[in-house]
Amino acid sequence: MRGPGGGTGLLDGATIMVTGASSGIGAAAARLFAAEGAAVVLMARREDRLRELAEEITASGGKALASPGDVTDPDHVNRVVTETVRTYGALDGAFNNAGWATAGKPLHETDDSVFTQALDVNLRGVWNCLKAQISAMLESGTGGSIVNTASIAGVLATGATAPYIAAKHAVIGLTRAAAEEYGQRGIRVNALVVGSTRTELIEDVLKSAPHLEEAYTTRSVQRRMAEPVEVAQAAAWLCSSRASFVTGAAVPVDGGWTAA
Ligand SMILES: NC(=O)c1ccc[n+]([C@@H]2O[C@H](COP(=O)([O-])OP(=O)(O)OC[C@H]3O[C@@H](n4cnc5c(N)ncnc54)[C@H](OP(=O)(O)O)[C@@H]3O)[C@@H](O)[C@H]2O)c1
Repeated sequence: MRGPGGGTGLLDGATIMVTGASSGIGAAAARLFAAEGAAVVLMARREDRLRELAEEITASGGKALASPGDVTDPDHVNRVVTETVRTYGALDGAFNNAGWATAGKPLHETDDSVFTQALDVNLRGVWNCLKAQISAMLESGTGGSIVNTASIAGVLATGATAPYIAAKHAVIGLTRAAAEEYGQRGIRVNALVVGSTRTELIEDVLKSAPHLEEAYTTRSVQRRMAEPVEVAQAAAWLCSSRASFVTGAAVPVDGGWTAA
């Protein structure tokens, strides 16, 4: 990570790209990272939301750039990374958090389009981001820290749809592979094993399958869903130099779901 930018924040002086920044965990992370001193680059498809959030962050004294795009398209991701480097000089960190899930049918009744979308957004999106971000970090030669959003569905069959479970398992695999390949060049790569968190994605799933609310909380030892900022706090720490010896990890932020 780059050196301190003169403030006292956890991420002071860093430039961090956040995908899925238009809502939920990504929006909470953008606000938190900026409050901790980072310049944040916001990526998602809903441009109006990104602009509003960037204005909000800037109005409270932070640095933010709205850079809309679709993570499934490598050209969009490359453009965002290029814009980041042009605007702020380097890319120090990334929170690859864009994701998509839907309430599902049993595997054999699931439409192939659900498989395609789950894999495209959750896995190919992270793939596209890793390629572009690692290239930029290698070019600057100052290392970096990347955090990918996986899920409890990345380590267990939670009852989510099979394509989502497969994609999130693969995100953890990609995370470990990238950590292993770039560890000696100063780039750390970690994943968050996120438990049920009260965001739009979950609210959408609950609208079509209200019975899942109980399933979302009963296995967690805290018996509740997370607020988005609680997940963002773990991402901030992993992006920061305080997590300097943590790489290749799949860190549970799940209220104890995977512990018991
Ligand atoms: N909420 C939970 O309980 C939970 C649990 C485990 C893991 N997660 C993971 O946490 C992450 C964030 O989800 P969330 O809960 O915060 O849900 P959310 O509020 O629905 O956020 C999803 C974000 O991803 C973005 N996105 C979706 N498709 C995209 C695409 N093709 N290109 C760019 N951005 C895209 C959305 O923005 P646009 O629509 O504007 O593009 C939105 O900002 C996801 O990876 C999800 O799988 C969530």
